Amino acid sequence: MYEPGLKLAPAGALITESPLRDLEAILRSRTPLIAVESNEEPEIVSLVRRIGQRLQLKTFRWTVTEGLRAFEPADQPRESVVTSQQLLTYIRSSASYALFVLLDFHPYLQDPVHVRHLKDIALAYPKHFSTVVLVGPTLVVPEELRPFTGWFRLPLPTQEQLRAIVFDVAAEWAAAHGRPGVQTTQKVLDLLVRHLAGLTATDARRLAFKAINDDGVISEADLPEVTRAKYELLGRDAPVAFEYETARFSEVGGMRRLRQWLEARRSFFLGASQPGLEPPRGLLLLGVQGCGKSLAAKAAAGVFGVPLLRLDFGVLYNKYYGETERNLRKALETAEVMAPCVLWLDEIEKGLAVGEEDDGLSRRVLGTLLTWMAERRKPVFLVATANDIARLPPELVRKGRFDEIFFVDLPSAENRREIFRIHLSKRALPETEFDLDELAAATEGFSGSEIEQVIVSAIYTAHAQGRRANHADVLAEIRATRPLSVVMAEQVAFLRAWARERTVPCD
Ligand SMILES: Nc1ncnc2c1ncn2[C@@H]1O[C@H](COP(=O)(O)OP(=O)(O)OP(=O)(O)O)[C@@H](O)[C@H]1O
Ligand SMILES: [Mg+2]
Repeated sequence: MYEPGLKLAPAGALITESPLRDLEAILRSRTPLIAVESNEEPEIVSLVRRIGQRLQLKTFRWTVTEGLRAFEPADQPRESVVTSQQLLTYIRSSASYALFVLLDFHPYLQDPVHVRHLKDIALAYPKHFSTVVLVGPTLVVPEELRPFTGWFRLPLPTQEQLRAIVFDVAAEWAAAHGRPGVQTTQKVLDLLVRHLAGLTATDARRLAFKAINDDGVISEADLPEVTRAKYELLGRDAPVAFEYETARFSEVGGMRRLRQWLEARRSFFLGASQPGLEPPRGLLLLGVQGCGKSLAAKAAAGVFGVPLLRLDFGVLYNKYYGETERNLRKALETAEVMAPCVLWLDEIEKGLAVGEEDDGLSRRVLGTLLTWMAERRKPVFLVATANDIARLPPELVRKGRFDEIFFVDLPSAENRREIFRIHLSKRALPETEFDLDELAAATEGFSGSEIEQVIVSAIYTAHAQGRRANHADVLAEIRATRPLSVVMAEQVAFLRAWARERTVPCD
């Protein structure tokens, strides 16, 4: 819980020395034009103003609506300088040792007359030592001006600054609502701050406000909304999907060992450390189709309590052919910005299959992925899933790439019983009306997905007769089903034999 009345410095005052030094260095290197791509206008303006004071330069701000204003009354232009033409004429004729921040100038960068003016200003720099700072969300600097332009980036807030932003927003909210403070726990606060990483101060402020504003409490329930909004703010066109639904292990039949494995590593993934222990990095789930690999990937995100991003390798290849590597890199970058998160690489064999004639593309994609896996610094937990081990490149399966390779086998009788229970209850069918032992015994060789299917089919059949599905309906559907493990007995046997030597069972 926050101390009542705790009030931290507003985010604008949080600019540390480093951006100040960077921008000053650009200015001191006698750069006539400085381009700053950013939405953080107040921060940039206050930064420029502080540098102006330090270097004893006259400092001005120009906007389309207010025209040119000096920060010091003594520097105020005598005539009124409003339009962009007036502005440029003023800079060319009257200014020396001055610093101009232009906030709405980016549309004029496409106009030849404006470009000419700016170029003349740049060329005259050795005479009057005035610098123009262009600020805009996106800036297209024309060819002619590039040799005179230095680029500056406002660094993203650090964890400490983000924490201060949250405190700041909380204090504002509490003051505005006449409350002593905003409630949260240390754990939730830490997670919120982690999830705000990668955002600008303005965006972080907005999301923190959203988390607080509904009820004046920052609780665990606010976090999914924060991560979702963050994902949308990033607005990336990378081929990763934000999975809104993660799962709980209570929805998964079996996989006890996998669940314990994940639970034991949860706190280490979220930042706890212990000498000699590496943070968990990822696992590979191999297994029989329809036995719950995708479900387990979702449950991993559920156990860690972090967002789930899904990268579909089939889509990466087909839709983005020709840009596959770039898109993989973008996807991995997005995951790092969203960290801590789980990145689910679904059907990984589709993208990395060996021995196909694809002019080395899958090799390069594999290289990109392996390099990233070895070098990643952010808490991005990989869950890769695959059915077809014969198509997986050996490098990927080699020891040390993943923390563990789990095998998701056909469910045992006990697990089938549990899967029946889960899916009957999902569809509001009381388990007491079913003989779960008999159903489990009758479904030897069925996958979880096939068990779900027989329940669904039984419900349809019964519904057509105007009644609720019962035990006999489900049994009848079971008898009418030929499970994949029978149809594809050879492949399943091969997979199991392969897995026995090289993987750990999920149960
Ligand atoms: N162990 C299980 N417990 C509960 N439900 C399961 C289980 N296995 C499968 N199911 C059900 O079957 C559906 C399909 O399973 P899932 O997509 O996770 O399998 P998969 O192994 O990823 O299959 P594929 O190889 O086809 O991608 C799940 O959404 C779930 O409803
Ligand atoms: Mg799947």
